Amino acid sequence: MSKLQVTTPESLPEESGADAALRPSRLDEFVGQAQVKSSLQIAIDAAKGRRETLDHILFFGPPGLGKTTLAMLMAREMGVQLRTTSGPVLEKPGDLVGLLTSLGRGDMLFIDEIHRMKPALEEFLYPAMEDYRVDVRIADGPNAQTIPMALERFTLIGATTRFGLLTPPMRARFGLVERLGFYPPDELQQIVARSASILQVPMDEEGASEIARRSRGTPRIANRLLRRVRDYAQVRADGHITAAVADAALARLNVDEFGLDDMDVRILTTIIEKFGGGPVGLGTVAVAVGEDAGTLQDVYEPYLIQQGFLDRTPRGRCATALAYRRFGLVPPAGQANIFDG
Ligand SMILES: Nc1ncnc2c1ncn2[C@@H]1O[C@H](COP(=O)(O)OP(=O)(O)OP(=O)(O)O)[C@@H](O)[C@H]1O
Ligand SMILES: [Mg+2]
Repeated sequence: MSKLQVTTPESLPEESGADAALRPSRLDEFVGQAQVKSSLQIAIDAAKGRRETLDHILFFGPPGLGKTTLAMLMAREMGVQLRTTSGPVLEKPGDLVGLLTSLGRGDMLFIDEIHRMKPALEEFLYPAMEDYRVDVRIADGPNAQTIPMALERFTLIGATTRFGLLTPPMRARFGLVERLGFYPPDELQQIVARSASILQVPMDEEGASEIARRSRGTPRIANRLLRRVRDYAQVRADGHITAAVADAALARLNVDEFGLDDMDVRILTTIIEKFGGGPVGLGTVAVAVGEDAGTLQDVYEPYLIQQGFLDRTPRGRCATALAYRRFGLVPPAGQANIFDG
């Protein structure tokens, strides 16, 4: 079902197998996102208490923060089956009918990248979500006929990196809408430490802290950097990850002390050097750095904005004073304040 899964720099296929081992398998192993976890726990306890099925849930936020993981954990906590698909692979109502009718009572259907679902399919999904029924068309042309088909009560779990691209009627059909934000360094450090112990890599606290600080607030990146640092430690040191080993390994990967990678740096320096610090339109930046605008918006911008390096203004993107200083440059007078927005 995942044949069209988008590959971002955070989801290189080489690591998908190893990822499975590091994925938390119980809600209490899922580090951080305390508020999200507690609303989910309340929903689970309430549904179990009433012997009802769980409301439809939408997870949104940048890539690699745990949306898919939480969907899997919800199914596990409820003790139900999880069927998985994604917006771009669904082509016609029939694809959805097959999935929906295969669900037993309380089972979950996970639709990843739900914002990329075709509008016609979205409308097809509305009665399924609301009334647990689909209208199946059995003939085309003048004899077109639809027959309603009843479904078991199921839970739809949607995930998206682009909340803004979901239509309002779609959003309105989710009972729980949970936003995942970037992880603070202390939580990432716990994630790195947990992963290191699963991978059986010796690491001290400072080593974990160094990797955590430079992981762009993202567990998937933390795990990826841990693997690279582990390789380096094995080949260039005694296998043990210390702060110095982590620092040397990450410097080789061009991950700077703020966790910015090559593309982050390219985006900021392009805005500063080619466009006088902005404002400049997203499309123009995308062409200049040779990356797709959607990827810039989903993958790179949220962290740069959260860290105060980039401003999204109505007239376009601006590099902040902090970004200038990051590259040892003097911000122009009247440069956007880093505390804007
Ligand atoms: N809170 C967490 N605690 C521990 N590990 C986590 C946590 N969140 C994510 N991870 C790890 O990060 C990896 C990526 O998480 P996941 O696949 O759930 O992200 P996602 O939000 O679905 O990303 P995408 O938008 O790219 O689909 C997982 O394999 C898991 O190992
Ligand atoms: Mg996912």
